[in-house]
Amino acid sequence: MAKFIPEHIISEIQNSIDIVDVISEVVILKKAGKNYFGLCPFHADKDPSFSVSPEKRIFHCFGCGTGGNVFTFLMKFNGYSFPEAARILAVRCGVRVPEQSLTPAQKRLIDEKTRFFKINTMAADFFHQSLLNGVPGKNAITYLNRRGFSEDIVTRFKIGFAPEGWDNLLSFFYSKKIPLNSVEMAGLAVVRKKGSGYYDRFRNRIMFPIANIAGNIIGFGGRVTDDSLPKYLNTPETPVYNKRRSLYGIDAAKTKCRANETVLIVEGYLDFLALYQAGSENVVATLGTALTDEHVRMLRGCIGEKGKAILVYDSDLAGIKAAQRSIAVFDRGHMDARILVLPAGHDPDSYIRKHGRDSFMRGADKAKNIIDFLTDMAVRQHGLSIEGKLRILDDMIGPLAAIGDINKKSLYRKELAERLDIDESAILHKVRDHDKKKNDTRPWVPGNDAMMSASNGSCSYAENETETAKAKFERRLIAMMLQFPDIIPEIETRRLPDFFENSRLKALGYSILKHYADSDGHVAKLIGQLKDKRVHAIATSLAIEEQSWSYEGCLKLIDQFESGIKHHERILLRKIKEAETKGDDVNLIQLLAEKQKYARNKAKKQNCVRRR
Ligand code: UTP
Ligand code: MN
Repeated sequence: MAKFIPEHIISEIQNSIDIVDVISEVVILKKAGKNYFGLCPFHADKDPSFSVSPEKRIFHCFGCGTGGNVFTFLMKFNGYSFPEAARILAVRCGVRVPEQSLTPAQKRLIDEKTRFFKINTMAADFFHQSLLNGVPGKNAITYLNRRGFSEDIVTRFKIGFAPEGWDNLLSFFYSKKIPLNSVEMAGLAVVRKKGSGYYDRFRNRIMFPIANIAGNIIGFGGRVTDDSLPKYLNTPETPVYNKRRSLYGIDAAKTKCRANETVLIVEGYLDFLALYQAGSENVVATLGTALTDEHVRMLRGCIGEKGKAILVYDSDLAGIKAAQRSIAVFDRGHMDARILVLPAGHDPDSYIRKHGRDSFMRGADKAKNIIDFLTDMAVRQHGLSIEGKLRILDDMIGPLAAIGDINKKSLYRKELAERLDIDESAILHKVRDHDKKKNDTRPWVPGNDAMMSASNGSCSYAENETETAKAKFERRLIAMMLQFPDIIPEIETRRLPDFFENSRLKALGYSILKHYADSDGHVAKLIGQLKDKRVHAIATSLAIEEQSWSYEGCLKLIDQFESGIKHHERILLRKIKEAETKGDDVNLIQLLAEKQKYARNKAKKQNCVRRR
């Protein structure tokens, strides 16, 4: 783990950084007892099951099992490598990381993402300068001003201009000695079809840099200043840009989203900028894609568990389509979502220019939840004749079926029945039929791939119910070692992990012993060293628990465990005798092997005691 950065530097970072500080930049945390709680950013969390312990400097989610120290958090949340996370934190707490400890090959590996961020930042600066200097740039500013955007907003979001021509940006990078294939990999240049070399992807366009939640520039959107097509060109997928995970403006909006517990979701770059400029800074824009599970999870982390999202659409039809598509997404993400549809012909930008922000916000306050909105639309479309009601029912079955939350589902069913003045059981049957049909062809999968890996990949803190009483006891002992390190010498003397039957707990037991023997290590550091994913998950879940231990209490527990082992041994001996009298050779061999194991462990223990 610490191959690239010296161990003492890692410890220094670990000791000087406040994990609550780092995590609360992206997750709203509330204090309860010694720990902080919030919504887990790694799975669709309904109640705050994500906890952070400032004292132990670790986090753990009791829902999905994800946990670790501050480095793990940054790695999981931002996809950083360990050295990247360490460096970012080092900068934050003013610890100097020596560069010379890296070989060129290691450095290249570590720097890949940083390199893309840097190339994008350089490009953003280049575009911004082209906007501020020169005639074509001035025209672009005029265009932006005409549309009502101030210099301030242009500077704040580093809006730029990509000049006309095939190699302006490439020449700039060439002059800066940046390899042009990296520029191509960052999505800023395209390989020429004929001949060799590259050409600039973005030409004669107003450029909007897109940042991730941490503020690194990951890509661009470029708009033409006339009617040519395509109107917008976006960075293709690159190692740092993925539109399913990106929201324009998230880094600038996150603080206000948290404060207001509300986020406005719009479709366009200019809609975002118009709202932000008008003072609604809790806004993000999706980038030419429908809202994804990843978006919802990210926003959930910003707005908190009671927060709500208001989707803003620019026409009934677009709104209906988006509403239908997003019901399941919001439902999976346990997000309270509303829909605001603007009058025909308006998008947020044009609406605010014409009617002002206050009028917009009044509309936003009255925005309906998605089901009510869809019902309204269906009523408007089909009317309330018998015929119409049947059609409305047909329209609404899909959306109702998309809701996984049983209570919510039944609530909406009731509402719809009342609204249409029909018997609720009719709706119930229809929804059930629909569910069945759906299940026949395609089993319902909770969430998308990323969610699946979050819930399956990492082990839940609670092992399955078939765990034996002995393993449960072993778990208690490990919890004790993690939470009350004073007892570790005692555990070491009695070689307790040798007698563990659960292999993961056993491995963890040894790791703890080794860790505390090698250093005066902190639990967060130990956790950072655990390679096995499931062992890691068990460790964070047990370490973060708040139990009070006394030395005497611990000794009692250890004694109990040992007498349990003795008892087990006695049973073993009895079984061996039985097997011998019965002549049950198969069983006997097994039992003898087990006895041998015990004997070995005991011998080890005695040696250990003698050495002391
Ligand atoms: P719109 O066509 O509604 O444009 O696209 P806009 O944002 O309102 O821009 P103006 O006001 O006409 O200048 C909405 C969003 O859809 C994506 C962009 O993110 C855009 O902001 N889009 C649109 C594309 O990615 N490519 C396109 O060709 C068009
Ligand atoms: Mn617009």
